[in-house]
Amino acid sequence: MTDRNGRGPADSPETLRERALASLSTARERTALLTSCLDDHELTAQHSPLMSPLVWDLAHVGNQEELWLLREVGGHEALRPEIDGLYDAFEHPRAERPSLPLLPPGEARRYAAEVRGRVLDLLEGAAFADSPFTADGFVFGMVAQHEQQHDETMLITHQLRRGPAVLTAPDPEPAPAHGGPAEVLVPGGPFVMGTSDEPWALDNERPAHPVDVAPFFLDTAPVTNAAFLAFMEDGGYHEPRWWRPEGFAHLRARGVKAPSYWRREGGQWLRRRFGAVEPVPPDEPVLHVSWYEADAYARWAGRRLPTEAEWEKAARHDPATGRSRRYPWGDEEPAREHANLGQRHLRPAPAGSFPAGRSPLGVGQLIGDVWEWTSSDFLPYPGFAAFPYREYSEVFFGTEYKVLRGGSFAVDPVACRGTFRNWDLPVRRQIFSGFRTARSALPERVGPADGVPDGGAA
Ligand SMILES: [Fe+2]
Repeated sequence: MTDRNGRGPADSPETLRERALASLSTARERTALLTSCLDDHELTAQHSPLMSPLVWDLAHVGNQEELWLLREVGGHEALRPEIDGLYDAFEHPRAERPSLPLLPPGEARRYAAEVRGRVLDLLEGAAFADSPFTADGFVFGMVAQHEQQHDETMLITHQLRRGPAVLTAPDPEPAPAHGGPAEVLVPGGPFVMGTSDEPWALDNERPAHPVDVAPFFLDTAPVTNAAFLAFMEDGGYHEPRWWRPEGFAHLRARGVKAPSYWRREGGQWLRRRFGAVEPVPPDEPVLHVSWYEADAYARWAGRRLPTEAEWEKAARHDPATGRSRRYPWGDEEPAREHANLGQRHLRPAPAGSFPAGRSPLGVGQLIGDVWEWTSSDFLPYPGFAAFPYREYSEVFFGTEYKVLRGGSFAVDPVACRGTFRNWDLPVRRQIFSGFRTARSALPERVGPADGVPDGGAA
């Protein structure tokens, strides 16, 4: 019997098969939902140069599934070798994808469905212990997470798209909010960061390693629209002292004066959300802000962004046992009462929602709602090994990208864990990004230049 992060003995092949099947099916249902509500013209149009036409994502998920499951695991011949290059994300940047001879929508759907049919046959007889690639169903989980990540990307495209609303949230009303303290003290000391035994964790989450974290205070909820508006009304976007110089230069060059999709009309702030225009809800976490905006707000507030290690300690460390949990609430898979995940609401829930999902110290909404910017650069953990391919994470390591944690309302539970790491450029705003702030509990962590805490990378 192995210690599987407190989850008991290894799962049987039947359980692994069921989990793989359920995860692949959930992903495909969401892909269908996101692409069946638009006509062929909209599916083949490019709604933003930042994004692929949706029809590219549709065939790309099928192509990756074919590559990893049918060819790599099953040893099958290529179904359509001539299309591999078209759907290789590294061969063609997003801006050039509309000019490629992509499969039209109907053909893209038939191709992905044919791959899936063969994958289900393969899954029937799959052996899960032949290699690290198939052990615990890892490769099936990797493919399901990949499709869910594209479902999140496709939802970003829906948000960028101009035109009337076409999506309906399955659960329109997020959970009601509950009061509580604005911040909590996370005691100093070591904790175990990352994982070595989470079966479907990706390479950048590995391996588990101890990290000593100094005591710090952390917001119990993400920063709200009301709080961010206070920064704006205090002239935050016009005051260079709150900004990294390159961030301030970027917002000047782009004329940024508010989070993406906001506009001022008739004395109030409105936002566009999936084709509908509505007043900005004051108690909802702020969404569609860049790392520079998050960093500037935190400095204005006399605080800083948490480091990635601080975020993970707050999300996983159980002070009673000293061990790291899979999620803030424990080791159980996310349920509806824990977090706003899985595109159920198509919006973040008000700050203070999901009390059942809080960490032992009382930090809420760490999982779901909004991706949270951290101050940290995207770097490998000590002992990192690329698996199964360098392009998943290794080629992105460095100081160019900042880490985001916790997932958003657009992320499926299969692609979200306490250890899960996302990364993006500090100027990015089209992603479902927000943040919370921290402050050091020890005076020596105070920054030297202007007396405000430094939000530098971990
Ligand atoms: Fe991909």
